[in-house]
Amino acid sequence: SENWINTISINDIPEDDVIGITVNGHQIALYKVEDEIFATDNICTHGHALLSDGFLEDGEIECPLHQGRFCIKSGKAMSEPLTEDIKTYVTRTENGQVFLRFS
Ligand code: FES
Repeated sequence: SENWINTISINDIPEDDVIGITVNGHQIALYKVEDEIFATDNICTHGHALLSDGFLEDGEIECPLHQGRFCIKSGKAMSEPLTEDIKTYVTRTENGQVFLRFS
């Protein structure tokens, strides 16, 4: 069943940047690009690094540990040493709040 979770204010996410939050015990990375919000798991699929400590550029997040890059829209692993995609979440904003869908 669909489960929308109210997370944080859209204003808490810096423009063209990423922050890490915890939602229901899950570590999630939230990205804001041109006022669009994207969400992925925050822990890299390659090792224990937080993508929110990484570098966001051209719609891709670069992991701080070994510089693997994921597409923030699709979660697709775009470069070595990544072999596994990262989970993405559907988002919506309402009254300035960001909601994530857990299913
Ligand atoms: Fe992210 Fe290795 S831990 S690329």
